[in-house]
Amino acid sequence: MNAGIDFAVIGGTGLYQLAELEGVQSHRIETPYGSPSAPLRVGGFGPHRIAFLARHGEGHAMPPHRINYRANLWALQSIGATRIVAVNSVGGITPDWGPRVIGLPDQLIDYTHGRTLSLWDGEGEPLHVDFGEPYTPALRHALLEAAKASGVAVVDGGCYGATQGPRLETRAEIERLRRDGCDLVGMTGMPEAALARELGLDYACLAIVANWAAGRAPSAETITLDEVLANMAAAITPLPGLLRALRLPPA
Ligand code: HPA
Repeated sequence: MNAGIDFAVIGGTGLYQLAELEGVQSHRIETPYGSPSAPLRVGGFGPHRIAFLARHGEGHAMPPHRINYRANLWALQSIGATRIVAVNSVGGITPDWGPRVIGLPDQLIDYTHGRTLSLWDGEGEPLHVDFGEPYTPALRHALLEAAKASGVAVVDGGCYGATQGPRLETRAEIERLRRDGCDLVGMTGMPEAALARELGLDYACLAIVANWAAGRAPSAETITLDEVLANMAAAITPLPGLLRALRLPPA
């Protein structure tokens, strides 16, 4: 199927639907890897036709280590999406990445374990895809231009540390991530980015900072879910405008 999709958005914590989608068609897709997290919602979005998928399910039922990343990406590709804008809620580690910041990381380090991280299932040749630039530079660039055009401040570049969750990290773990060069930390960045590369999809991450990571806040407060959700709700407000301003060459 090719539904004429300009790009797909995978929404993370706090972004379970795009209210602005028009003329929505829902696609429940079964994949060789099982079911995606939710039906794919396809519709008009400003000048675009896009597909939206709620990564955690539409009621945030699925924790990061239980998400069927392979089914999600395969399903999006099966309806003709070739470019994925992944929206991920993250914790901020370095000073530029405070709560409510939006940023476009350009590197990542994978600390997850026990997740199915390849489409390769033991048959045929394993896929050793190039992953030196984990986020597609042209798509990152287009998102930066869209941010400029829509007047949304974004941080350009940074290293995403992908942790296992679902618990938050210890202060020592965050200190280690910082020493490793991570600027932000999240639980859903991998294996999604690597699977997108295996499938030949363009992929970029729009990271939304929900909280300071453990031990990085100016005061020694614990991180509460209420704080995370309030920051996410505030930070995602400009996202629809930014996405509408995205200009991409024909897929
Ligand atoms: N750590 C990991 N993932 C996250 C965080 C965090 O502090 N905040 C939002 N997602």
